[in-house]
Amino acid sequence: MSIIDKDEILDSIIHIDHLSKTFSSKDHTVEALSDISLDIGKGDIFGIIGMSGAGKSTLVRCLNFLEKPSSGDVIVKGRSMSHLSPKELRLQRHDIAMIFQSFNLLQQRNVLDNVCFPLEITGVPKKQARLKATRLLAEVGLGDKLKSYPSQLSGGQQQRVAIARALANDPSILLCDEATSALDPKTTGEVLQLLKEINEKHGITIVIITHAMSVVTQICNRVAIIDNGRLAESGKVQEVFSNPRSEAGMRLVLSAGGSTAERVPGEHLIRIAFTSNSSYEPVVANMVLKFGSPVNIMRADTRDIGGIARGQMVLQLPDDEELRANMKKYLIERGLEVQDLSSMKDFEDNYEEN
Ligand SMILES: Nc1ncnc2c1ncn2[C@@H]1O[C@H](COP(=O)(O)OP(=O)(O)OP(=O)(O)O)[C@@H](O)[C@H]1O
Ligand SMILES: [Mg+2]
Repeated sequence: MSIIDKDEILDSIIHIDHLSKTFSSKDHTVEALSDISLDIGKGDIFGIIGMSGAGKSTLVRCLNFLEKPSSGDVIVKGRSMSHLSPKELRLQRHDIAMIFQSFNLLQQRNVLDNVCFPLEITGVPKKQARLKATRLLAEVGLGDKLKSYPSQLSGGQQQRVAIARALANDPSILLCDEATSALDPKTTGEVLQLLKEINEKHGITIVIITHAMSVVTQICNRVAIIDNGRLAESGKVQEVFSNPRSEAGMRLVLSAGGSTAERVPGEHLIRIAFTSNSSYEPVVANMVLKFGSPVNIMRADTRDIGGIARGQMVLQLPDDEELRANMKKYLIERGLEVQDLSSMKDFEDNYEEN
């Protein structure tokens, strides 16, 4: 039994209806997806997260019928995908673009011609296609790379080309299958920011398939957790991650960012103090969710006064310097006092009741 999303999606653009997919070969069958029902709202940035082999890629390929479901259906903008003729299906796929982990660019074509390619297929005149591709490439920040070849670009730049190409035929939906998994954390952040801008500017609904919780917390508004081919739970990101109700959800949230066991004790300590200006929210938990990286609580001396935390904590922050700086900024913005400590002894020597 899946746990059903509490709040109804008012304007569903994709309705997944009791979808199952079984792969059969001579000697065995794999039930990749089993009875998935889910709504994705118009304008959502919808995350689909799960472990390797959970069925995420199969699900996303069923959304545009690159993979035909064994049973159930997908309704896109009110139209049943399983009732479309081959020609209607081809047209529908122009409305559902896709980007991948491996970028899938045409290596023998330059950047501009890569983006022109889908426009050529839909019969847009050459001059018009080049104008549009040039505009899209400027939008993704590659206005100066039109004549470069994919091999001359970084991974982040190649994914930007793939995004511009995906936008060429003005889709309503963009599917992203592990689109940032081959990129470093900084480039991942930049590509996710670009997707967010595209979502806001063009109103495109984005479906993001990922195994990384930090990707979901960075840009998604809703999330579904897929576990072993089944929908474990779905809902608003903040709700699912701060209060996971399924076993798969709990596993995912608790393991976010991996183990802290190898961290050197005494490094990267900060003291935070909750003041009367501190915001009303579980601030440390929310910070861990936002950055997708755990912190160690070395000492907590807080009281709950009228629902608001008072007192102080000593936290050990992650090794990554940029991440530490961002976490401190996050805490300060929420009205907490933040002080660097050189050691726990430093804290104990200067300990004051407050
Ligand atoms: N074409 C296929 N033929 C047979 N089995 C398949 C096929 N495609 C996927 N599967 C199986 O279906 C299951 C789900 O695979 P899928 O690729 O959807 O997982 P995933 O969640 O995307 O994993 P990953 O995070 O590793 O990409 C796996 O057991 C896989 O082996
Ligand atoms: Mg996959």
